[in-house]
Amino acid sequence: MKTEPGIRRFDVPTTILRGGGARHRLPDLVREMGGSRVLLVTDPGVVQLGAVAEVVKSLKAAGVSVAIFDQVQPDPTDENVAAGVAALGTQRADLIVAFGGGSPIDVAKVIAIRPANPAPLPDFMGLHKIRRAGLPLIAVPTTAGTGSEATKVAVITDTARHVKMMMLSAPLLPRAAIVDYELSLSMPRGLTAAVGVDTLTHGIEAYVSRQANALADPPALQCVTLAARHLRAAWTEPSNRGAREGMMLAATLGGMAFSNSSVCLVHGMSRPIGAVFHLPHGLSNAILLPTVARYSVQAAPARYAAIARACGCAGPATPDADACATLITWLEDLNRALELPRLSQCRGVTREVFEASVEKMATDALASGSPGNNPRVPTATEIVALYREAWGATRLSRGDNNRTTSDLSAFPVF
Ligand SMILES: NC(=O)c1ccc[n+]([C@@H]2O[C@H](COP(=O)([O-])OP(=O)(O)OC[C@H]3O[C@@H](n4cnc5c(N)ncnc54)[C@H](O)[C@@H]3O)[C@@H](O)[C@H]2O)c1
Ligand SMILES: [Fe+2]
Repeated sequence: MKTEPGIRRFDVPTTILRGGGARHRLPDLVREMGGSRVLLVTDPGVVQLGAVAEVVKSLKAAGVSVAIFDQVQPDPTDENVAAGVAALGTQRADLIVAFGGGSPIDVAKVIAIRPANPAPLPDFMGLHKIRRAGLPLIAVPTTAGTGSEATKVAVITDTARHVKMMMLSAPLLPRAAIVDYELSLSMPRGLTAAVGVDTLTHGIEAYVSRQANALADPPALQCVTLAARHLRAAWTEPSNRGAREGMMLAATLGGMAFSNSSVCLVHGMSRPIGAVFHLPHGLSNAILLPTVARYSVQAAPARYAAIARACGCAGPATPDADACATLITWLEDLNRALELPRLSQCRGVTREVFEASVEKMATDALASGSPGNNPRVPTATEIVALYREAWGATRLSRGDNNRTTSDLSAFPVF
């Protein structure tokens, strides 16, 4: 449903159960929502963690029939969705549980709307293209995170065109979410870093966006405050429960914020990097965030200064211009502290492919619409220049490519 100019819409899940151990309430919630036959959508990595077996056991003990669909890959594809729809039919499910990071949650969202919306998937790319509600969905995130459990967004790769399709439509919103930080304790450092900067980026972009609004601003700023307070601790000390809980809450708040405001240039430029180089979403955001912030601050200094104050790197009396400058340094320091690489340092990324792809990446970034929400709206030429800056070639010597550290290799996709 489209809204009139001047009228803003705010969608969040009807129910959110939050806190350590909240996952044990899943059977109650399934029953409350009238579910008796569940399709649980996840991925092989999450199955290995053991948590899937635990929830399946509790669902079966409550008399709920469960089938597992675990064929979701990172950067999920239209093929993952098609296989999941087939599993849905076999199970004759009346409710879907998404269990995992952003990838399984996004696939589950699209599986849920497919029976009622059978048009080709590319028709759903963009805003408000999905008309009819789907099956009820409960999202249980295991990363902190994309915030997908609280968003009406799904990102699915079109394998024919090598494009990450961003779909934003109210029917994609999970009916309920269970946000249990204990599920995130197993995240290795590389994953904690990348998904954590994704969370931070959601808060920042929702707040500086041209689509920012009074309902999305408070969760956006609180997301930034929590991520700034807890991300380094969650990375340094993976079993720090307070830090993990803070990041899980930040992720959900960030999802609520950007889903009802928007993401901007970082996400617009990040998706083409993901499509070409298959880097994890959070990592490509982290690579771009300081560069895009440096480019953008001049168009919204008061908003970026408020972000700097929420991060704690500027005080209430710091002039906006100084706060903005400090923020950029703080973001660069954060990437360094979390051992996040520059684009040129990522495994599998070559200068040749970068040069051959950079113009198309800029075109695809603009076509996604996200750069149009940025406080400073770039041209295609400016986007190419920003990609080059993010590449980091001027700061690195040859031979830095394919760098690995124990932390980076802990991320399954590096
Ligand atoms: N729908 C939205 O609102 C939204 C927002 C941002 C990003 N996204 C999308 O989400 C996807 C990325 O999701 P993600 O960053 O959460 O990663 P992911 O879901 O792709 O998972 C990455 C890897 O981490 C593993 N993993 C998950 N939880 C774990 C845990 N607790 N411990 C150890 N390993 C774990 C998975 O098995 C997988 O191998 C991208 O496709 C991105 O475009 C969606
Ligand atoms: Fe994101």
